[in-house]
Amino acid sequence: MGEIIFGGSTCQSLAREVAGEVGCGLGKLTIKWFPDGERYVRIESDVKGKDCIVIQSTSRPQDANIMELLQLLDTLKENGAANVVTVVPYFGYGRQDKVFNPGENVPSKTIAKHIELNSDAFYTINVHQKHIMDFFKIPATELDASPILGEYFKTYKLESPVVIGPDEGAERLAKGVAKVIGCPFDYLQKTRLGPGKVETKPKNIDAKGKNIIIVDDIIDSGGTMAEAMKMLQSRGAASILMGTVHPVLTGNIIARLFSDGAADIVATNTINSQISYLTVSALIAEALRASQ
Ligand code: R5P
Repeated sequence: MGEIIFGGSTCQSLAREVAGEVGCGLGKLTIKWFPDGERYVRIESDVKGKDCIVIQSTSRPQDANIMELLQLLDTLKENGAANVVTVVPYFGYGRQDKVFNPGENVPSKTIAKHIELNSDAFYTINVHQKHIMDFFKIPATELDASPILGEYFKTYKLESPVVIGPDEGAERLAKGVAKVIGCPFDYLQKTRLGPGKVETKPKNIDAKGKNIIIVDDIIDSGGTMAEAMKMLQSRGAASILMGTVHPVLTGNIIARLFSDGAADIVATNTINSQISYLTVSALIAEALRASQ
């Protein structure tokens, strides 16, 4: 088991929770921001010969948080850490996951190459596309937070619940959530028209009188959730609840989704936000324990 857990600036409380659950010490470090946004990192714990775990999401400001992660990993190895495990609860830059036009960069691949330089194993949670895990040449594991969302929505004891993914990519998340609740699931057909603009086509989903839980890996502009809700409301849904793993949340989208009729919107703490009520600490701790 890793002896010291270090929380990057995006995951300070989460790292403390995981350290508590795993029974590890919490590493001491100083992270400062220079006025221009550049990061200063200093590891103050003695890491020589120790197994270390770093937890850091690459959420906004992505570039500085990625750089901070790479600084942490490099510094741990420079200071003699025996083994470094990297946990990135939210792995940003996942949406450009392949080359669509010749000459394009695949940023998640670029980041993977840099993480593995100073890391012996990698974990993330509900990555945007499964094949991103293949970009890593070190052991890389994707953890699934759908049971956490499922357990939360189960407490509602809804009548006639149905879990809906707003697009095909959300099907596996919808399936995982529905499995815990013990209810049906399906997904909608979404076409992205541009950033923050999507078109959701009706599918053969019977929404009338149903309490619908829409789940997606990411809520960013909220356009996807808003369109899905509109379509399901127009088909007679009794209520709409929403869940996401990664609350990227650009602008005031949560207020807008509530005012458009969402009865609840909940997320995990892979990214800290106003709706991050569910913790992924046990999921990470269990994976770390199992790897020993
Ligand atoms: C895209 O395929 C993702 O799964 C999400 O549906 C998307 O990132 C959500 O973005 P937005 O909230 O901007 O519609």
